[in-house]
Amino acid sequence: MTPRIIPVDLFDLVVYGATGDLSQRKLLPALFHRDVQGQIPPGSRIIGCSRRGLSAEEFAALARKSIEDHVPDAERPPDVVSRFLARLAYVAADAGAEDGWADLGRLLKPESDRIRVFYLAVGPDLFGPICDRLASLHLVTPRTRVVIEKPLGKSGASARALNESIGRVFSEPQIYRIDHYLGKETVQNLMALRFANALFEPVWNAGHVDHVQITVAETLGVEGRAGYYDTAGALRDMVQNHMLQLLCLVAMEPPISTAADALRDEKLKVLKALKPVSGDGVAGLTVRGQYRAGAVEGEAVKGYFEELGAVTSRTETFVALKAEIANWRWSGVPFYLRTGKRLASRVSEIVVTFKPIPHSVFDGQAGPIAPNRLVIRLQPDEGVKLWLMIKDPGPGGMRLSHVPLDMSFADAFNVRNPDAYERLLMDVVRGSQALFMRRDEVEAAWDWIDPILEAWSTSGDMPKPYTAGTWGPSAAVALIERDGRTWYEDQDL
Ligand SMILES: NC(=O)c1ccc[n+]([C@@H]2O[C@H](COP(=O)([O-])OP(=O)(O)OC[C@H]3O[C@@H](n4cnc5c(N)ncnc54)[C@H](OP(=O)(O)O)[C@@H]3O)[C@@H](O)[C@H]2O)c1
Repeated sequence: MTPRIIPVDLFDLVVYGATGDLSQRKLLPALFHRDVQGQIPPGSRIIGCSRRGLSAEEFAALARKSIEDHVPDAERPPDVVSRFLARLAYVAADAGAEDGWADLGRLLKPESDRIRVFYLAVGPDLFGPICDRLASLHLVTPRTRVVIEKPLGKSGASARALNESIGRVFSEPQIYRIDHYLGKETVQNLMALRFANALFEPVWNAGHVDHVQITVAETLGVEGRAGYYDTAGALRDMVQNHMLQLLCLVAMEPPISTAADALRDEKLKVLKALKPVSGDGVAGLTVRGQYRAGAVEGEAVKGYFEELGAVTSRTETFVALKAEIANWRWSGVPFYLRTGKRLASRVSEIVVTFKPIPHSVFDGQAGPIAPNRLVIRLQPDEGVKLWLMIKDPGPGGMRLSHVPLDMSFADAFNVRNPDAYERLLMDVVRGSQALFMRRDEVEAAWDWIDPILEAWSTSGDMPKPYTAGTWGPSAAVALIERDGRTWYEDQDL
């Protein structure tokens, strides 16, 4: 299948924090891939910016290395590498000082009506100061956009303050809050599955769905990010943003269109309908864990404290929780969420388990009848599985088996799966906000998360330890098994 390219207008993209990890590992390779695909118009520029004093040649050398490190040989035609590097410029400007900003102004030319994107790949404490400087240099035109990344606050109050500081300079239609999960192919496929098929929507409700599981499991530990991670933890780092966004896409009502605000209005309703989890209720509905030394995929790994270089910490590296949505569609249907570091395998998936059949016409020899399950795998091998009961082939009477209709996207469509950042960056240039979070969504998500954080903090309990390479503390298994259910495992039959 040949990928289709939607053209974008001429643009200048300024990456603040261009020498940092996000830029080197994700943004520059993503932009390069779009150049290979012919999506970047001639004359468009990518301008790196950070404090380090680099010449244009030194920045180009850094960008070349980033492409060589993160793009496979076969996807790096030398002529496109040269074309891409020729688009680059670099300005050294400290967000907290005067130096360099005038150079940026001269390079961008305030009067230009090109699309202008400022990607703030820096810590959130710099968002406000950078926005203020852009305003004072008159660099914010009607065609200017700003892109920001998580963490969008540490609480509702800090998220509001952050939104205020950006909102003083940019209007909401100019602000692109990235949740890179929304750029994943399979996440968008969730929309296609739900709203382009007549099959699922009639049974997508409390009458037919028993429960939903959302798992985002990592095998990596905190490694180089330990300092940041210890101030955040799994609830802030994964649940407040990625997992609640996934929950919204599973649970929302059909939007009236795929326009950005139509989608975001529906997601917001889900967030507002989440049953509060607070006070004494938190202990029964949430589990916090923290990894200890163990082995992941056969390799011995350190525990969280050793990676952090501290004797103790109350930061959770794992969380499991049970959420409910108080509306007509979902009343009484639990949504079990779990995420953690140093788990047994790297997998992100959404599992919708349907209710058992009301009555079996088969005799005992047929074997147990397992419920239908729809499994939407986001990573590593993106695809969809629908578990059905069928008759075991061949003679031997009516024996039943639980088998998946299994579609791996890589096998089904022989096409490179673009990284989420490729799509998201081009959506920013195009002015499409559908895959970005609106201010009220972010704040509503925090409003649900804040009481959980507060209850954890007042309880004084430590997170429950789990051995690296397992599926988290046993309390996470108890959380779901108390309800007579189990976490989905791929080999489930
Ligand atoms: N890395 C990821 O995969 C990832 C994923 C999601 C979100 N994020 C978020 O994205 C942001 C950047 O992450 P990162 O991992 O790329 O961090 P990083 O590796 O520490 O890079 C930070 C960048 O910001 C620049 N910088 C720092 N202070 C500056 C200042 N005062 N003025 C101008 N530039 C300054 C640094 O360059 P100089 O030191 O030369 O100034 C560097 O280029 C963070 O908020 C992070 O939480 C990162």
